[in-house]
Amino acid sequence: MEANAEASINKYAANISSIKEAQGRIGSYVHKTPVFSSETLNSISGRNLYFKCECLQKGGAFKFRGACNAVFSLTDDQAAKGVVTHSSGNHASALSLAAKLRGIPAHIVIPKNAPKCKVENVMRYGGQVIWSEATMQSREEVAAKVLRDTGGVLIHPYNDSRIISGQGTISLELLEQIPQIDTIIVPLSGGGLISGVALAAKSINPAIRVLAAEPKGADDAARSKKAGNIVTLPQTKTIADGLRASLGSLTWPVVRDLVDDIIVVEDKEIIEAMKLCYQILKVVVEPSGAIGLAAVLSNTFRNNPTWNDCNNVGIVLSGGNVDLDVLWEFLNKQV
Ligand SMILES: Cc1ncc(COP(=O)(O)O)c(C=O)c1O
Repeated sequence: MEANAEASINKYAANISSIKEAQGRIGSYVHKTPVFSSETLNSISGRNLYFKCECLQKGGAFKFRGACNAVFSLTDDQAAKGVVTHSSGNHASALSLAAKLRGIPAHIVIPKNAPKCKVENVMRYGGQVIWSEATMQSREEVAAKVLRDTGGVLIHPYNDSRIISGQGTISLELLEQIPQIDTIIVPLSGGGLISGVALAAKSINPAIRVLAAEPKGADDAARSKKAGNIVTLPQTKTIADGLRASLGSLTWPVVRDLVDDIIVVEDKEIIEAMKLCYQILKVVVEPSGAIGLAAVLSNTFRNNPTWNDCNNVGIVLSGGNVDLDVLWEFLNKQV
C-alpha cells in the first residue's frame, strides 16, 4: 500500500497492526470459521458468493472475536475485578464466554425486552445478569452503578478499539481463504463489525468494496451517511434484533470514509434470505446475520450499475442465535 493511503487508514480507532495483533491474541480461542458457497445461490444472484460463517463462531456470532480481544488485552490487575457491559444481544454472551475463559467475572446489564435465547446464552456462559429497563438511559444508569459497585472494566459492544480490532480479524481470514474477493457485504448496527472489516480489507487491498446492509426500520447509518453526521432514530422496528443500535464516535468516521455504500432492505427480504440460508446453505442464521444475503439479492443492489462488476462477493453471516419462538410466530404470520 502507498504511504499516504496507509497514513489515512491510521487515523481511525484500529489499523492493520492492531488487527493483526488481535489475531495473534485470540487465535487459540476463536474458530477459524468456514466459508461456504452454493451454485444455486450463485445462479440466483448472478455472482460468486462466499459466505463467511460467523454464525458458527463460538457463542454463535462474530462478537466473540472482539470480546476475546478486549478481555485478553487487559492486564491481570485490570482483569481482576471483571468486565461490565450493557447489551441485549450477542456481545453480552460473547463477553461472558471470553471472561469465563480468562477466569474473571462478567457483569452484564440486560434490558428486560432482550431476546430470550440471548439471555440464556449469557447465563450458560456464567455471566452475571443485572436487569435494566428497555431504554438506553436505564441501561447506562444501571451499568454505571455496576461499574461503581464492582470496580470492573467497561467493554462497550462496538465503540472500542479493542472490539473493532477483534472484529477486523474476519477480513484477515476471509481474504486468506478467498483471495479473489472484490466486495464484502457486512451487517451494520453500531458499526464495530464493519469498521474492523473495512479497515483490514482496505489495508490489504484498497480496491475492495465494503458495503453495509441495514434494515429499513433501523436505517440510521444510511441516513447518517446522507446527512454527513450521526443521525439517531427515535425508535426502530425490525426483526433484526441485533441491528438496532446507533453509530458511535469511533465507528462513524470509518463508516463515513471507508464504507462504499449502505444497502437498506425490508424485513421481508431478510426473512427470505434467512430461508435461503436454511434451505440451501443448511446453516442456522439469525435475521441480523442473513441481511447481507438479503442485500445482494435486493433490487437496490442489482439495479445499481456501480455494483455490476462485484463478481466475487464475501458475505458475513454474522450470527446464528435465533429466538425460535419469535421466528415461528413471524413465519406463521406470513403463511
Ligand atoms: C448477529 C449480528 N450481526 C451484526 C451485528 C452488528 O454489529 P455492529 O454493532 O458491530 O455493527 C450485531 C450486533 O449486535 C449482531 O448481533
